Amino acid sequence: MSTFQLTRTLPDDAMAAALRADVMHGLTRTPKELPPKWFYDARGSELFEEITRLPEYYPTRAEREILVARSARIAAETGARTLVELGSGSSEKTRHILDALTELHSYVPVDVSESALTGAAEALLAERPELHVHALIADFTRSLTLPETPGPRLVAFLGGTIGNLLPGERQAFLRSVRAMLSPGDALLLGTDLVKEEAVLVAAYDDAAGVTAEFNRNVLAVINRELGADFPLDDFAHVALWNAEEEWIEMRLRARDAVTVKIRELDLVVSFVAGEEIRTEVSAKFRQEGVRAELAEAGLKMSEWWTDAAGRFALSLSTAV
Ligand code: SAH
Ligand code: AVI
Repeated sequence: MSTFQLTRTLPDDAMAAALRADVMHGLTRTPKELPPKWFYDARGSELFEEITRLPEYYPTRAEREILVARSARIAAETGARTLVELGSGSSEKTRHILDALTELHSYVPVDVSESALTGAAEALLAERPELHVHALIADFTRSLTLPETPGPRLVAFLGGTIGNLLPGERQAFLRSVRAMLSPGDALLLGTDLVKEEAVLVAAYDDAAGVTAEFNRNVLAVINRELGADFPLDDFAHVALWNAEEEWIEMRLRARDAVTVKIRELDLVVSFVAGEEIRTEVSAKFRQEGVRAELAEAGLKMSEWWTDAAGRFALSLSTAV
């Protein structure tokens, strides 16, 4: 019989304290910035799912193409009995791996978004009578205590979400993943690849304006959670390619000078006209860079698969 357990490793007050600290730090520095994890309240998670269906947003379709082609191989190579998925969201694409893993005992989705976790678990359990789902509401950039489940363990980090971490955070994160792996365990990592600027920018500035709404949602979260009065429409969505860093940056640009009060922080934040908040980076990768970053964290890449158009890659690694 299937089972479902939801563990809150982040009590509500710890989440609230982390948001307060990030907003205080990020909006009192120059240039202003906010970490992307705060996009994902229930509305933000919904908007991200809408993004995955946009014609311009190719990463989800490209990664799904690789999963369809390679899940049997992933299953044969790993023989995983536990699948841990970091930033699992709707777990939509994960179904291809779950279907292929014939010996699977437990699925451990990890996400900051409670609504995404419960929605995904409901859908999965309805279809898989033998599966044990142990969902963790947790921040994957902090230390994680995983449930005791049978090995071998496969840790999946899909969607290119690793690109939303800054280079220093990425290295710390990969080292923490390395620490989760015992001999015989593996990491399955999705990375979006460097490509033509126009294709990249369109993926983050879609014609229907869904990404713009997703971007502004972080202000809606701060308004609701911290009693702030950001006028959402007074901030323009900006997506640009930083060719030196090889990442897309999303920013929110004040159309005019504006002053915002953040009641819970007893803080007043002023913007001059045109001033921006960087809300996300989305790094794009090359094979050698991924291999080197993995190696630096003590991981050895054994497989590298791309979609037919070479837009996105999945790699499989083991602990050295
Ligand atoms: N893996 C899915 C979802 C990607 S969206 C896919 O490929 O489509 C990124 C997901 O990571 C969201 O569900 C978001 O809530 C989650 N997330 C972002 N930052 C996080 C963090 N620091 N800790 C845990 N989850 C995080
Ligand atoms: C979750 N992550 C990989 C997405 C990305 O493409 O960087 C988030 C996103 N931001 C804007 N559109 C999608």
